[in-house]
Amino acid sequence: MSTSVSNPATSGVQTDWQGWYAARRSRVDQAISEHLSAEKGRLASHSRLPEAVQYSLGKGGKRLRPVLILECCHVCGGSDEAALPAAIAMECVHTFSLIHDDLPAMDDDDLRRGQATNHKVFGEALAILAGDWLMTDAFVVLSSDKIRAELSTKLVSALSQGTLGMIAGQAADVEGESLPGSPELVEYIHAHKTTRLLETCCQMGALCANADEQQVAALRRFGQHLGLAFQISDDLLDYGGSTAALGKRVRKDAEASKQTFPSVFGIEQSRVRARQETEAAVAALGPFGERADRLRGLAQYVITRDR
Ligand code: IPE
Ligand code: IPE
Ligand code: MG
Ligand code: MG
Ligand code: MG
Repeated sequence: MSTSVSNPATSGVQTDWQGWYAARRSRVDQAISEHLSAEKGRLASHSRLPEAVQYSLGKGGKRLRPVLILECCHVCGGSDEAALPAAIAMECVHTFSLIHDDLPAMDDDDLRRGQATNHKVFGEALAILAGDWLMTDAFVVLSSDKIRAELSTKLVSALSQGTLGMIAGQAADVEGESLPGSPELVEYIHAHKTTRLLETCCQMGALCANADEQQVAALRRFGQHLGLAFQISDDLLDYGGSTAALGKRVRKDAEASKQTFPSVFGIEQSRVRARQETEAAVAALGPFGERADRLRGLAQYVITRDR
């Protein structure tokens, strides 16, 4: 991570935010690796499906969504143990969305998380099936009898709604390639393809801590603004970032005539909007006081990142 946290909006955040984030990411990596080992029985052979699933889920990116779930749970007084199943389930859905996003029928990308995309290694059929597996497995994880029945129902409902929103956003993103640039359309796309899952992370983290309705609502608001800032920053990184840092190809959005914030509003306006969304995200954390300082750090990270 190349981000330092110095914005006044995050005053009070410990200076070693990067170290904290790296440690959180390792915790998530460990949980995912344990999950993959436990999956071995169900991911029976006779095909390369186990390898295809392991290839994409095992190779983490930033693990932002699981870290967000763990931290939202902490902010509401819950433990890692309470939030880890939700964190694993969310990373399964996110990884499925990336594998499918990279397919030739969608963004046709050949590099993801610093390695060849899933379909480049295993072929399109296996990549589609690995994505299908990951999405389904997320709901298997959340339906485990190790999770209280009432919480399990709430988590399944939250993640299914979030996933449907993401899929609707992806559909609008792909169809939007052949439409003229439209502020209304790009707002819809970003509010769905990326924001819905980030909002759901915050909701699920709070639910895992048995948070009250106001806390869940405040964290969802935080996630909505954070999600939009995150996707605007993704668009800006496609325009001005580097493949070496991002581990994925850049300058593809314009080539594909994507509806992006920079293409519709311009670079400067997009930067301004990303900052405004970050400020709105931080403002939503007001009720949590200093307990939410790490989340404030995450909000800053989202717009200052280079990967
Ligand atoms: C990429 O998400 C897809 C978008 C929603 C822009 P990330 O940038 O979080 O990808 P990883 O998980 O770090 O690889
Ligand atoms: C993808 O958006 C969002 C989802 C996968 C749901 P992008 O297509 O912009 O993501 P990247 O740039 O390929 O990571
Ligand atoms: Mg895409
Ligand atoms: Mg893409
Ligand atoms: Mg992108």
